[in-house]
Amino acid sequence: TLMKVFVTRRVPQEGARILSQAAGCTVSLWDSDEPVPRAELLKGVEGAHGILCLLSDKIDAEVLDAAGPNLKVISTLSVGFDHMALDEIKKRGIRVGYTPDVLTDATAELTVALLLATARRLPEGVEEVKNGGWSSWKPLWLCGYGLSGSTVGVVGLGRIGLAISKRLKAFGVKRLLYSGRTAKAHAAEVDGEFVPQDTLLSESDFVVVSCSLTPDTQGMCDKAFFSKMKKTAIFVNTSRGSVVNQEDLYQALSSGEIAAAGLDVTTPEPLPTDHPLLTLKNCVVLPHIGSATYSTRGIMADLSARNLLGGLQGTDMPSELTF
Ligand code: GLV
Ligand code: GLV
Repeated sequence: TLMKVFVTRRVPQEGARILSQAAGCTVSLWDSDEPVPRAELLKGVEGAHGILCLLSDKIDAEVLDAAGPNLKVISTLSVGFDHMALDEIKKRGIRVGYTPDVLTDATAELTVALLLATARRLPEGVEEVKNGGWSSWKPLWLCGYGLSGSTVGVVGLGRIGLAISKRLKAFGVKRLLYSGRTAKAHAAEVDGEFVPQDTLLSESDFVVVSCSLTPDTQGMCDKAFFSKMKKTAIFVNTSRGSVVNQEDLYQALSSGEIAAAGLDVTTPEPLPTDHPLLTLKNCVVLPHIGSATYSTRGIMADLSARNLLGGLQGTDMPSELTF
């Protein structure tokens, strides 16, 4: 009997091709670049053996129940898995595939780009050129903060945090601090010093959040967090929006408690265009594009398709999440 697969979005051809050539499968696809409406998701997964989803699809008990007992595997086109109710998935004995490693470099590059754009005020500068605000070369105009000689604090020195650190070290960073649950052996590659989070916050010129979203990190960057940072410090988050309390961030930015923030992730996503954060010159917001290079997205699609097939066939998955 044919196995049924539901794909929640158009995916890059590297993945679509694998799925369309998969023997023994019927694939149905939400054939759009926009998210599948919840009702269509619940209908689409009915009787499915496999689901290929994105981080914007909430995979909870309702979806699992809608799919029913055939469901063997959920493959997400993302490294993050906070959109999936893992306890419910585990209870049902369903396997999960995800895409670590392949997006590490792209995400680290984007983080460095966002950090520099925020610290050196690039969006403001671009805007001034366009709106006639550029009247001459001025010694005191559009000054920001540089990396050379600075102290950088990375909250969560995982795969991506390490890749960010390596890149930042090349800019002449003097000290690289990191915090998290445990010290990491790989920190030696960047001379990283494991410190309590309070120390990291009070000593860093740049605070980069690169942890995963868990009950421990949910809302971690709050009023107390920002109040411990230097007034001249730059805050950057390329992990998950919910790690930040955005009202507290707004207060910290508008009151001058910290210098600036660069965010690639927000709550909600998309961030409404009338959101208070978007009124601030010292807040640079990107639309969750950390892994968005052509090649990385192609590789993610390939990997998520192969994860899905492995799960359907009951064989190895190239990147299976253990949980
Ligand atoms: C992106 O945020 C991902 O989880 O892949
Ligand atoms: C800047 O362009 C300089 O010449 O200092």
